[in-house]
Amino acid sequence: MKRIAILASGTGTNAERIVRYFQEKGTAEVAWIIASRASAGVIERAARLHVPCKVITPDGFASGEAFRFLKENEIDFIVLAGFLSRVPDEIVHAYPQKIVNIHPSLLPKFGGKGMYGMHVHEAVLAAGETESGITIQYVSEKYDEGAFILQAKCPVLSDDTPDTLAARVHELEYRYYPEVIEKLILGLSETKKQTVYDWLI
Ligand code: GRF
Repeated sequence: MKRIAILASGTGTNAERIVRYFQEKGTAEVAWIIASRASAGVIERAARLHVPCKVITPDGFASGEAFRFLKENEIDFIVLAGFLSRVPDEIVHAYPQKIVNIHPSLLPKFGGKGMYGMHVHEAVLAAGETESGITIQYVSEKYDEGAFILQAKCPVLSDDTPDTLAARVHELEYRYYPEVIEKLILGLSETKKQTVYDWLI
């Protein structure tokens, strides 16, 4: 069975959904969660979910510690779920089309430097957008510029706050990310971009 490592820096709600999905389906195994900081909420979630968790700081990524750890633990596939550090080139090169990221906007809009977490949703509202969504993409050397795998859309409502929009976007993430990962791992998916129109609430 393919072994997944999830890399996360935050609370890890996506990580939890992915772990539960594969615990239930048994089509792959989340072998490790790697947290990029010791205070990340994802660490407590990992313990609750009985998934081994290791803290590797951004310095540890830069120095090669993370690369060695992934290799030593025979990781086949890497999932970024709210991971705020840079994935070093040696990891990107060692895992061609085997690293995926999720971004809470319809890239290329609202991507790039500084566009993470609530900053994304605040910027979407400030720009007066009428729709937002998620982008699941491969990770390339340039942040947020990897090929798209799937985009799903939801509306932006006139009375949205960053929190209500974030919640709607999170629902899309929970719905699509585990399934897309599974399809890629099982080799079922075409790599070309698809766009899915959806609205969950
Ligand atoms: C998600 O919105 C994801 O798109 C972005 O970071 C957020 C992580 O949320 N990359 P969580 O830690 O999974 O709750």
